[in-house]
Amino acid sequence: MARRCAALAAGENVLPPSARYAWAAAQAGCAFVDFTPSAGARIPGVAEVFTSYGVPFAGSDGKTGETLLKTVLAPMFAQRALRVTSWSGTNLLGGGDGETLSRPERAAAKIDSKDRALRSLLGHPVGGGVHIHNVPELGEWKTAWDHVTFEGFLGTRMNLQFTWTGCDSALAAPLVLDLARLSARALDAGCAGPLRELAFYFKDPVGTDVHALSAQYDALVSWAQERLTARQEVVGEE
Ligand SMILES: NC(=O)c1ccc[n+]([C@@H]2O[C@H](COP(=O)([O-])OP(=O)(O)OC[C@H]3O[C@@H](n4cnc5c(N)ncnc54)[C@H](O)[C@@H]3O)[C@@H](O)[C@H]2O)c1
Repeated sequence: MARRCAALAAGENVLPPSARYAWAAAQAGCAFVDFTPSAGARIPGVAEVFTSYGVPFAGSDGKTGETLLKTVLAPMFAQRALRVTSWSGTNLLGGGDGETLSRPERAAAKIDSKDRALRSLLGHPVGGGVHIHNVPELGEWKTAWDHVTFEGFLGTRMNLQFTWTGCDSALAAPLVLDLARLSARALDAGCAGPLRELAFYFKDPVGTDVHALSAQYDALVSWAQERLTARQEVVGEE
């Protein structure tokens, strides 16, 4: 970190743009939210800058579609002892994100963040993989077709398939509004560093390995009630 600080002071671009945005936000005393799979505030050294400036950050990579469903369904398989043997996801994306992710080097971080949640929820890696295709014709809309094979009692082999068609902006916009409000309130409440309680919104949450949506929701609600509402009541009483 000391080397990075010295290089930054000397005007060298040692950090990717997303990490420079994050660093600038911390220095300006603004809470930072990374809705993309970029390095952002997660890069070693940058997260510590937030803690030292007393500023919170949240991320990474909004959970709005296929991974949202995975983090609801995978705990069900695990809790019912139905062993998932493969999970294949085919994603058809339009718009700017589809174009960006049609480049393999850009898609790698997104695919990794989608896979990580599944590995963690099932407790073991599964074959199948995630595939992303750019279909400009779809525009704002995205379709995910997932095919899941699993084994039940006495090794009986079964499968689940689902198709999800969502409107990117309509799925993301309410999350962005929540995140702007919650991170601003967290800053007011004196929170600093990673906001693990906002994991509910992300594919690759900072500061926690909890991926199951219901556990993330419970953590979010108790944090908001205990930390943010308590603060409001204290302020209201003054
Ligand atoms: N449902 C969703 O929309 C969703 C869900 C999860 C994650 N994300 C992530 O959010 C990001 C945006 O997704 P999108 O669908 O809106 O993509 P998009 O390509 O439609 O829009 C991205 C916009 O950001 C602008 N931009 C690019 N680099 C910039 C920079 N350095 N500074 C300022 N502006 C810049 C582009 O000009 C473009 O207008 C992507 O990283 C995507 O993976 C989106």
